[in-house]
Amino acid sequence: MRRIAVLVSGSGSNLQALIDAQQSGQISGAQIALVISSKPNVFALERAATHGIASCVIKTSDYLPAEYEKALLNALTEQSIDTIVLAGFLAILPQGVIAAYRGRIVNIHPSLIPSFCGKGFYGMRVHRAVYESAVKLTGATVHFVDEGIDTGKVICQRGVAVAAGDTPETIAAKVLKIEHQILPEVVAALVADRIEWVDERPFIRRGEEIE
Ligand code: GRF
Repeated sequence: MRRIAVLVSGSGSNLQALIDAQQSGQISGAQIALVISSKPNVFALERAATHGIASCVIKTSDYLPAEYEKALLNALTEQSIDTIVLAGFLAILPQGVIAAYRGRIVNIHPSLIPSFCGKGFYGMRVHRAVYESAVKLTGATVHFVDEGIDTGKVICQRGVAVAAGDTPETIAAKVLKIEHQILPEVVAALVADRIEWVDERPFIRRGEEIE
């Protein structure tokens, strides 16, 4: 049974989508075994408690850098975690964690990478930039996590039109719906070893098709 840790910093709506996907059987052969929050008193921790999922708060400001990495690795090892999902996680993952779990860490970003991503592009900042740029298409991306910020190989993306009547808030709501679709799809594929690589580019295998 694969054991998943979900790293959060806020409301945890993506965590909830993963919990729902586990309960519906969309994610099978795996268990969300741990939630790690970078902040205390966030609703994501209540979601974990409601579903009997172990959780802890590991704040960067409580540690020196090397100790922060150790605290994360200890928490992950204690729960025998083999897969990490960053879901609204706003802290930077230490290099030692990325190295230890390379190829088994994914992140959800609320834009079509490589647009509107990288340093400073998170939450509503992304959607305000999308709105101000007048692009006609935005969406969400799930990608592997590497040493950069939002630079890992893209696994899955889904777009949505930006309409004249949209605001940054309505854009955010449209994109969040897509996030809640594609993150469980990718995690289900990852834990079922249905990620196929074609010329160093990851694709999800669905039945006979890869896409
Ligand atoms: C979402 O927009 C996600 O893309 C971003 O953080 C936001 C909050 O996510 N990474 P959640 O509701 O805490 O899952």
